Amino acid sequence: MKRRDMLKKAIGGGALMAVTNPIDILTRSSVASAEPKSVGNPLRFPPVFTNGGNMTLTETNVTVWPGQNTQAIVINGSYPGPSVVIQKGSVFTANFFNQLNEPATIHWHGVSTPELMDGHPKDAIPPGGNYTYTFPVGNRGGTYFYHAHADMRTAEQVFKGFAGFFIVDDPAELQLNLPRGSFDIPLCLQDHRVADIPQFTYDANMEDVTFGYLGDTVLVNGTPDAYFEVSRTLYRFRILNGSNARVYKIALSDNRPFRIIATDGGLKDEAVEATSFFISPGERVDILFDFSPYTIGQNVTLKSQAFSAPGMGTYRQGTELNIIRFDVTGNQSSGGTVPTSMPPITYYNPAEVKTVRNFVLSMTGGSMNMHKINGLSFEMMRIDWETPLNSLEEWKIVNATNNIHPMHSHEAQFQVYSRNGNTNLPPVDKGWKDTVLVYPFETVRTLIKFTEYRGIYLYHCHNLEHEDDGMMLNFKIVDPVGISEQGEELPDSFRLYQNFPNPFNPTTQIRFELEKGSDVEVNVYDVMGRLVGVLADGFVPAGLHELVFSGSGLSSGEYFLRMSVGGSVRTIKMTLKK
Ligand code: C2O
Ligand code: CU
Ligand code: CU
Repeated sequence: MKRRDMLKKAIGGGALMAVTNPIDILTRSSVASAEPKSVGNPLRFPPVFTNGGNMTLTETNVTVWPGQNTQAIVINGSYPGPSVVIQKGSVFTANFFNQLNEPATIHWHGVSTPELMDGHPKDAIPPGGNYTYTFPVGNRGGTYFYHAHADMRTAEQVFKGFAGFFIVDDPAELQLNLPRGSFDIPLCLQDHRVADIPQFTYDANMEDVTFGYLGDTVLVNGTPDAYFEVSRTLYRFRILNGSNARVYKIALSDNRPFRIIATDGGLKDEAVEATSFFISPGERVDILFDFSPYTIGQNVTLKSQAFSAPGMGTYRQGTELNIIRFDVTGNQSSGGTVPTSMPPITYYNPAEVKTVRNFVLSMTGGSMNMHKINGLSFEMMRIDWETPLNSLEEWKIVNATNNIHPMHSHEAQFQVYSRNGNTNLPPVDKGWKDTVLVYPFETVRTLIKFTEYRGIYLYHCHNLEHEDDGMMLNFKIVDPVGISEQGEELPDSFRLYQNFPNPFNPTTQIRFELEKGSDVEVNVYDVMGRLVGVLADGFVPAGLHELVFSGSGLSSGEYFLRMSVGGSVRTIKMTLKK
């Protein structure tokens, strides 16, 4: 009998067959016990990526379930993709080759990158194309990841394997004496469907789009029925929820406590003891767990506990699942310790918020674009708002649905401020975050500030079915408010006639001469960073040009003339005096 048939029988046929089914045997090991070891598969680790090397994306057969072929989307032949391990401060480079028959792009989730390195779907690489992703890694040490982000293809490509770790190592962490090397273990959790074994069949129906594509068995680093042999010592586990839609309530089968030491954006300011936590798609949580209380021969299982959330309705989450079994087999010491103090985190002060933005999450019936943010579905080239650099904003998420939405911002790490007005937050909310789990009918206030790059980035639900259904918006990071008479040198081929009317009422004429044609952007912003006039946007031929800005529907005050020529930017203050 083929294994797949056997599994099917086991599900339909009850207890007798279940004994021969490793998945079921895992289900039974609910407390630490001396069950026979080595049932299941040893935890796999994807190869470590060589910085500067190629990342070649193909669809091919790999072995996920022993002895069977799974058609997966892999990088350099590996599912999950190779793990990037890189030191903070160095420059990451990967030469990406898209050998799929469809567009593809790589997004570096949680990592701050220039706009054109962020893997936005507008910058997708066509089939057969290639692109070099390169950027300095300025993020805090921590557990980040990369994954597919092509327009309406993210969910399927990720489900089929297109994702991998991006671990930033900060040498400053050394002094904390955390477990390292073979005691620092990344765990990528992805749920798949037993009924489809050995394939990663992706066939989302209406219900899947509504609730997300949920599975009933968890692969860890692509390993089904995973186990991992541990020594009786302290380990660091970097838990990444790489699932399309599944929320896990992480706990040990014997409910033993562990320490939560890091969130999405790296280390917390304290190692908090906990016995469980929630992790939604896109989120990462690092924990320290000590196996020294166990004896050799015992095992304990990391699992997802059953749960329910408010506003249930037709809610599909909360199934109890086994994740990975730890078999205690050795006495080696990691030498790691639980830090008694950790470097502080500066928390944003809500009193310093310059702009409050509301994001109302809604769901309507229908076949497409049923998940919306502020009534909008994603449109590739539409900018939904502008956010100035270095300005603290509150992003207030109001979930008007009975579904869970993990809300994720590209480009910056943010902080969670409150849930339904309550600022007493669970440990996984406290620290740097790029994705926040928003429960049904909940209001979550987050504080965010962009400090690095200008450009177009995304804000979206990280339930990948919701994302592909359009639950995603574009925002543009623009010049900081208040910059005046500053900025870079514009190219010599661009000559601005500085003596334009300023102050002016109600119009001003801006003259410039171009030696050769080039892309020119000339915009006017108000002091809040709101765009009030577009004077030029696109290719401007060589010659003398005059732009006229009219302040007739505007009130007196300061405005900013922003000129961008061939990528250099200069901003000049103008005054409208009526
Ligand atoms: Cu991990 Cu735009 O997402
Ligand atoms: Cu992201
Ligand atoms: Cu959602």
